[in-house]
Amino acid sequence: MNVTEAIKRRKSIRSYKAAAPVTDEQIKLLLEAAMLAPSACNMRPWEFAVIRNRELLEKITALHPYTAMLKTASAAIIVLADLELKNNISEGFFPQDCGAATQNILLQAVDLGLGTCWCGVYPKEDKVEAFRKLLDLPQNLVPFNVIALGVPNEEDGSRGFYEETKVRWFK
Ligand SMILES: Cc1cc2nc3c(=O)[nH]c(=O)nc-3n(C[C@H](O)[C@H](O)[C@H](O)COP(=O)(O)O)c2cc1C
Repeated sequence: MNVTEAIKRRKSIRSYKAAAPVTDEQIKLLLEAAMLAPSACNMRPWEFAVIRNRELLEKITALHPYTAMLKTASAAIIVLADLELKNNISEGFFPQDCGAATQNILLQAVDLGLGTCWCGVYPKEDKVEAFRKLLDLPQNLVPFNVIALGVPNEEDGSRGFYEETKVRWFK
């Protein structure tokens, strides 16, 4: 599958085939894709928590109201921003760095036949704190989002579309 096809097939998946396995090897490919993303000054200010534990997945649905799809997901990847990995130039760019890493995961997943849903955590302070507590994270790590992962139980196909009115051309 080429990148154009992956972009066009990706959509947020909120229903997964509950018993379908996702392998550690597949998850490692997703994490490799994440770590190949660009980052300001190449600081790579990220870590990743891989949640396969069913009890923990359930706890996440309880503390984040828009993550109900985790009930059928096989796993979740939590992107963690590392606030200590910065210099004077890269400071403040971590949301863009972690966003790029996240999108790479989403597109790589399409190529593996897997579905994802990006669920925002940062910058909602109450959620950041709740996830930090749940995963017992140090203060320098900011839970950035939760990516639900599993075998889709719905058709793929982009919800996005091109809008000429959103483009300002400067020729
Ligand atoms: C920053 C961000 C936060 C999001 N948070 C949630 C969320 O908490 N729960 C959810 O179901 N979807 C969440 N989404 C998914 C969006 O609702 C979805 O991307 C959007 O509706 C477009 O649909 P598509 O992803 O299928 O193209 C989030 C997406 C982004 C980029």
